[in-house]
Amino acid sequence: MTDVLIRGGILVSAEGRRRADLLCHDGLIAASGTDLPAPAGTQVIDAGGCFVMPGGIDPHTHLQLPMMGTVVADDFYTGTAAAAAGGTTSILDFVGPERGQSPLDALATWRTWASRAVVDFGFHMTVSWWGSLFSDEMATLVREHGITSFKFFLAYKGGLMLPDEDLIAGFLRCRELGALPQVHAENGELIAYLQAKMRAEGITSPLGHVLSRPPQCEAEATGRAITMAEITGVPLYVVHVSAADAARAIANARTRGVKVIGETLPGFLAIDDSVYRSDDFDFAAGHVMSPPYRPREHQDVLWQAVQDGTLSTTGTDHCCFTKAQKRLGHDDFTRIPNGCGGIEDRMHVLWHLGVNAGRITPEQFVALTSTNAARTFNLWPRKGTLDIGGDADVIVLDPARTRTLSAATQHQNTDFSVWEGRQVQGVVVHTFSRGDHVWADGELRVELGRGRYLPRQPFGHPYQTQL
Ligand code: URP
Ligand code: ZN
Ligand code: ZN
Repeated sequence: MTDVLIRGGILVSAEGRRRADLLCHDGLIAASGTDLPAPAGTQVIDAGGCFVMPGGIDPHTHLQLPMMGTVVADDFYTGTAAAAAGGTTSILDFVGPERGQSPLDALATWRTWASRAVVDFGFHMTVSWWGSLFSDEMATLVREHGITSFKFFLAYKGGLMLPDEDLIAGFLRCRELGALPQVHAENGELIAYLQAKMRAEGITSPLGHVLSRPPQCEAEATGRAITMAEITGVPLYVVHVSAADAARAIANARTRGVKVIGETLPGFLAIDDSVYRSDDFDFAAGHVMSPPYRPREHQDVLWQAVQDGTLSTTGTDHCCFTKAQKRLGHDDFTRIPNGCGGIEDRMHVLWHLGVNAGRITPEQFVALTSTNAARTFNLWPRKGTLDIGGDADVIVLDPARTRTLSAATQHQNTDFSVWEGRQVQGVVVHTFSRGDHVWADGELRVELGRGRYLPRQPFGHPYQTQL
């Protein structure tokens, strides 16, 4: 492995920044300081005028996931290659057992699929059903496989949705094992009622998707999940927060001292629900995800929550489909595969809309895209930092360069982009993953299967998170 000296950039951490060189040796951060010498054989990268930051950690992806009668368009090769091209060097994906299936068996399947990954990856486990087998195997998942976070669904009635009784049992089991419960917080009963109402009114288009998933459904489910976590005595991670009142519920709980961590997605900070009113089915359906994009006024509240730490991580919920796949729901919005892409775009969009727009500092950018996820999911200090001894997962971002995001030029394996035509300023010109130069100024240099599995530690007793 070639050593790398990244020279003359501004090193940014979640805590501060300084002009310094960064030396990577044997895949690890070896030194930082001014005028570091380059040992013989070292590759030297000129980072003058650029920001040098920890590689992104995307804590929320769905690669190769079988879903709604099809399979997500990005597998672990294409999805993680796109991640590398966008400056993301670690992902946490979700293993999804079939109803009744052993979670350990499902994990074996996902490990096989993920053997194609080109950046490092870990897993959360979706609690897609509840019973003694699931509960028993959770212990093995935590202790032997390093899977220490479990996602529960309050939505998708008749599918992934669990009744409150099972949520409570699952949260208690997480508490016992030192694992972190995560929730997809939308009220599935109300959504099922509204979907039926839309159908009765003859609404079959993607507009029905947003009309049947109003913000109140998210706010109610977020509050309910928080109450369950508070009373069962376990912290909670709320994924993909899109609604202002859901963010407020998290803020209120945190003010009371409840340990709730909120995640949002770049799309919820910038795209509004007008997309569902388009007459172009492919465009409207391309934005169908759950929860849906919200009216514009929610964005200010979410930005405020990002700024004050209520929403401390950003994922992508990368779950992309082609236009042809979305057409499965041409005559019935409830059959449109739910999900959008973004694994390649998250860093660029957040730099442009966050840092360039003066909403967040470069330090907050690092916290939001990397460090906070590492701390929340027990990847820190191996990931999420440029401190000596950590993995040399590093990006070099040129704040002067611009790029236009488009399906035509992306590495994501789909013909659609929710960011189509958006120009961003601030481009990741180099990505290093454990010291390997995987993205070199427009060129992907990834080797199939080079990604490594990231087992994670459970949290101690009494339960503590890093945040
Ligand atoms: O619509 C979405 N979000 N699809 C992915 C699955 C999930 O709920 O996170
Ligand atoms: Zn979800
Ligand atoms: Zn998701």
